Amino acid sequence: MKVFKTIDRLRKLRRDTARNDLSIGLVPTMGYLHDGHIELVRRSVRDCDVTVASIFVNPTQFGPGEDFESYPRDLKRDIKLLKEARCDAVFCPEAEELYPAGFCTTVTVEGLSEQLCGRYRPGHFRGVATVVTKLLMSALPDRAYFGRKDAQQLIIIERMAKDLNMPCRIIGVPTVREADGLAMSSRNSYLTPEERAAAPVLYRALCAAKEMIDSGERDTKRILAAAGKIINSEPMVKLQYLEAVSRENLLPVETLRGKILIAVAAFLGKTRLIDNIMLDLEES
Ligand code: PAJ
Repeated sequence: MKVFKTIDRLRKLRRDTARNDLSIGLVPTMGYLHDGHIELVRRSVRDCDVTVASIFVNPTQFGPGEDFESYPRDLKRDIKLLKEARCDAVFCPEAEELYPAGFCTTVTVEGLSEQLCGRYRPGHFRGVATVVTKLLMSALPDRAYFGRKDAQQLIIIERMAKDLNMPCRIIGVPTVREADGLAMSSRNSYLTPEERAAAPVLYRALCAAKEMIDSGERDTKRILAAAGKIINSEPMVKLQYLEAVSRENLLPVETLRGKILIAVAAFLGKTRLIDNIMLDLEES
């Protein structure tokens, strides 16, 4: 497996693969890999001739007071995991490679970026959209893989790729969970044992919402009240938001129909966790 730090090398890989008529899959990550990330790599290895993972803790998507400095990092272990997953190359640039002095161009996906997490993390999705654009422009992959765990991020990137005519298919991959339902996340490593034990309540609440919907309930207020009650019954968890929105525009819906996202964000101590379910309901 090749490991490189420069955009030039990434471009060379793209040229070499294109010359041999091979397809490239890109898996952007911030490292500290877990099985959720590796599932994206597995999907790419299955679909594409060459798989490139990127590891870059992107400073522009962290707000002041967020965990950029303390974000967990373990490049050696990540490289080992990627090798085992049969990834072909890893791009792990320094910040100066992606953001040289004078850098001042950003990508903003209007509207979608201000909803849900965007309300609490202003500028976050501009940082994500900008770095993902730079990675896509540098690697020019045929497909790029993103987790549904970060549903708003995935929806924003799909919109951006479409709006900017990026010649790349964006593939969404289902959330990989721990045995007790907790969505895998690099940030789970911050949790104390007590917080870790409480954390699956988020997915339990989402599952309860899904059960109500499966048995015919469509009233958003009633569904969110029931799910919210489950989350609030866990004293270690402080709910930030719990919303049911349309996947088209991420705006709240009163009655559930069509492509729906039910998304939650909550704090366990200092750690902020997110989770969601996506539903495809009859239109009428
Ligand atoms: P990171 O949090 O490292 O996640 C990298 C990719 O792994 C994202 O597409 C994310 O949705 C996916 N992922 C994380 N946990 C997952 C899980 N439990 N199941 C399935 N997929 C999962 O998301 C980012 O990094 C950054 O914002 C990035 C896109 C790399 C831009 O900096």
